[in-house]
Amino acid sequence: MDNKLFDLSGKIALVTGGAGLLGSEHAIALASHGAKVYLADINIEKCRYKAEQIKAYTIYSLKLDVTSKENWQKIVSEIVKQDGKIDILINNAGYTNSTKTSAFDKTFENFSLNDWNSIMNVNLTGTFLGCQTVGNQMISQGKGSIINIASLYGVVSPNHKMYPGTGIVQPVAYTVSKHGVVALTKYVATWLAEKGVRVNSLTPGGIFDGHDGLFLERFKNLNPIGRMSDKNELRGGIVYLASDASSHVVGHNLVIDGGWTAW
Ligand SMILES: NC(=O)c1ccc[n+]([C@@H]2O[C@H](COP(=O)([O-])OP(=O)(O)OC[C@H]3O[C@@H](n4cnc5c(N)ncnc54)[C@H](O)[C@@H]3O)[C@@H](O)[C@H]2O)c1
Repeated sequence: MDNKLFDLSGKIALVTGGAGLLGSEHAIALASHGAKVYLADINIEKCRYKAEQIKAYTIYSLKLDVTSKENWQKIVSEIVKQDGKIDILINNAGYTNSTKTSAFDKTFENFSLNDWNSIMNVNLTGTFLGCQTVGNQMISQGKGSIINIASLYGVVSPNHKMYPGTGIVQPVAYTVSKHGVVALTKYVATWLAEKGVRVNSLTPGGIFDGHDGLFLERFKNLNPIGRMSDKNELRGGIVYLASDASSHVVGHNLVIDGGWTAW
């Protein structure tokens, strides 16, 4: 067995959504296999704090609004100026339950155009812009790996019987945007494959983040594996898709969900 298969030494990586729950997990996965990681987020203070928490590795933090093409161009040129290249991009920033405003009404009947546009802008347009701007840099290098973070709700609809009484919402735009991320991945992957850039998506299931009560009970009952995912259970998939271990994997959606989408 080639023990260099998952090696990321000398690789330069950019992970968006670095201030949230999963961004720093992806950073740990990449850094522990040798990559130099830039963690970016619109919330730079929290992103810096998260980067500092990962004491074992030096993780750099940068400000980035993924909905702005100018922001993407700026961050690409900053990293290229510093390191000469970008080998790995993880499009992880997301408009999630933590981002929503107090005026948010999840019902389909009342779902506002404003919230639809906000979610689409971050989850889908932001991912498109990342694929395009960092993808162009990778084309010039002749190599790169892009991983778009989708969701179990990019594969199936939320089970609407899960949520009443739990305080958690799953709005229409989140599901549609994440299905869009999987579709975008296939398009960009097949466009860029011959140019040396591999593009894949990774689909997390429900990640445990202190959930309890009715929500946790229902989720455990509905998930074949009988529990939510631990936030560190995506690390193997991230390293696999980022490294040459997946050199022939193009346009794939790697589902890590405990079986949620299997039945
Ligand atoms: N946590 C889960 O259970 C779960 C399940 C499936 C998929 N996902 C996906 O995984 C990714 C990470 O999820 P998470 O749980 O860490 O979410 P999170 O809400 O904890 O983090 C998301 C981060 O994205 C950032 N962000 C929002 N808008 C931005 C913008 N315009 N520009 C830059 N950054 C922006 C936020 O500031 C936040 O730090 C998301 O794409 C999410 O949809 C999460």
